[in-house]
Amino acid sequence: MKYRLFGKTGVKVSELCLGTMTFGRYTSKDDSFAVMDRFSEQGGNFLDTANIYNSGASEEILGQWLKGQQRDEYFIATKVRFPTGNGPNSSGLTRKHILQSVKESLKRLGTDYIDLLQVHAWDPLTPVSQTMRALNSLVESGLVRYIGASNFRAWQLALSLNDSRMGGLEEFSSLQPQYNLLTRATEYELIPLCSAEDIAVLPWSPLKGGLLSGKYLKGKKPENDETRIWENVRKGGAAPWEQNEDYVWSVVNAVRKVAEETGKTPSQVALNWLLSKKGVTSPIIGARNLSQLEENLGSAGWKLSREHMGILDEASNLFVSYPYDEESEEQQNYGRKN
Ligand SMILES: NC(=O)c1ccc[n+]([C@@H]2O[C@H](COP(=O)([O-])OP(=O)(O)OC[C@H]3O[C@@H](n4cnc5c(N)ncnc54)[C@H](OP(=O)(O)O)[C@@H]3O)[C@@H](O)[C@H]2O)c1
Repeated sequence: MKYRLFGKTGVKVSELCLGTMTFGRYTSKDDSFAVMDRFSEQGGNFLDTANIYNSGASEEILGQWLKGQQRDEYFIATKVRFPTGNGPNSSGLTRKHILQSVKESLKRLGTDYIDLLQVHAWDPLTPVSQTMRALNSLVESGLVRYIGASNFRAWQLALSLNDSRMGGLEEFSSLQPQYNLLTRATEYELIPLCSAEDIAVLPWSPLKGGLLSGKYLKGKKPENDETRIWENVRKGGAAPWEQNEDYVWSVVNAVRKVAEETGKTPSQVALNWLLSKKGVTSPIIGARNLSQLEENLGSAGWKLSREHMGILDEASNLFVSYPYDEESEEQQNYGRKN
């Protein structure tokens, strides 16, 4: 496993981060331990959870596993923002909720510090300056090492950075956006902003919840329908291919074609595409079990050719209009990153 710089912090994180969202629901405790053991054996040091995943079970399982490890070798990320209870103040990015949630996360994780505390999404009701001051106090007290944002729009991230800078406070070091071959709007504003500010980018759902693994085919039920996507469909939810169907299947077909030509699996191709993308630090891989993890670990350590990157870029390209359709002459001549 290779390591990459975590934004401008100087910290080195594994180029694949292990997501733990299925732990305690789709993935049993024993299987979760097996997945984390293998990830760690391969050099993975970066794990992502959230206070709300499976009502805290994900943090608890991760914490129990960490007890058998050398804590300082790992970079543990969690989140705060979404409801942890039914009360009017048990969600959001107020000082009140952030401090309460961190106290509970630390207990579940069985640790005395969190490496990366991420705000799970923007809170339209709380002044950004209150949030940034609460986060800064956690860093100063030593309970949190670094702070990050997730699911922000670019203006929200820019406003937060500006607030921190004006107040001499800790700034966001990372952004966790959805980013994959079927979700490329992230490239319009978020990636250039993060590159310009040297902010780590941690794409979530790199396989679009499993859709890019190649196991779904147009008009066919998968052989094994015990999957997260199919469970949602069984419960009456919309399948992720229902909107924009032609686009989805043409991207999936392109991934399958490149997989055939490279001798890799579709999951490995889709993940490698992300690993090669400008500005990306560590995609957060999801693995329901050990065999999925093994396969997904095989996405690192090699590089798609320019030709194969081109096929995937072309199939997944979004309509680009003003003001994103022009690169300035200076950018073309000097290759500026923003
Ligand atoms: N910040 C946020 O708002 C946010 C939101 C979502 C996720 N996340 C983070 O991102 C992490 C990854 O998200 P994700 O789980 O949605 O990632 P993903 O890689 O897009 O999807 C993972 C799912 O795809 C299927 N899969 C994975 N590898 C496979 C393989 N090799 N072959 C076939 N199927 C495979 C599995 O589901 P099935 O076996 O059920 O098909 C697995 O649970 C989460 O654990 C969490 O840490 C963050």
